[in-house]
Amino acid sequence: MSRITIAIDGFSSTGKSTIAKELAAKLHYVYVDSGAMYRAVTLYAMQHEFINEGYFFKDKLINNLNDINLSFHFNESLGFAEIFLNNVNVEHKIRTLEVSNFVSKIAEVSEVRRRLVEEQQEMGKNKGVVMDGRDIGTVVFPNAELKFFVNASADKRAKRRFDELIKKGDKVTYKEILKNVKYRDRVDSTRLDSPLVKADDAIEIDNSDLTLTEQFDLIYGIVKSKLDLRDI
Ligand code: DC
Repeated sequence: MSRITIAIDGFSSTGKSTIAKELAAKLHYVYVDSGAMYRAVTLYAMQHEFINEGYFFKDKLINNLNDINLSFHFNESLGFAEIFLNNVNVEHKIRTLEVSNFVSKIAEVSEVRRRLVEEQQEMGKNKGVVMDGRDIGTVVFPNAELKFFVNASADKRAKRRFDELIKKGDKVTYKEILKNVKYRDRVDSTRLDSPLVKADDAIEIDNSDLTLTEQFDLIYGIVKSKLDLRDI
């Protein structure tokens, strides 16, 4: 069966990565979480004190971009690839609220975007990839055979994120999560470089009232008909 590129974009905490991971596993495709790459660069900037409460030394980060090495390593027991920053597994460290609060600032920097987009295009050059993010269908793979744009209300997204973080034992409040979700929506969709917009040919999915199974069945149905059509 011929392999295609599947781009999944959308606002934060819409569950894009859950869909993308399941889809990749079902199709035996590679899954790439492009947001993890922006998060790992953010973590690097925090570790080197290029970013902290109230300031961001953008030039220092740009000058040190060559010292950042990102790689994904498949974890058999989890069933997906985890991200490594300079050979250290940072999959958990990049999911904190602190990183979430800074990441949009980092994702605004064109030099960072150029570098990460290049790496993403390289990872998808042989097709058979499901990549999720904000600009996958518009900038990274404008020719992707299948593009989804996932959305849900800010309240629903904040509630899901809150439940996830509480389950992990993080001490957060719903109010601060909702604030972060809304803040990232605004920055992600109004930034000058590659703002979050739906590609003209993307299929929009609003999952506010869908269960995970309903959502997966809907998306997988669309993927299957696309793949069947290509094989005729
Ligand atoms: O998908 P996520 O919430 O883990 O992404 C983290 C941040 O990275 C998000 O606020 C916007 C940014 N991002 C981006 O600008 N472009 C992408 N392709 C993926 C993520």
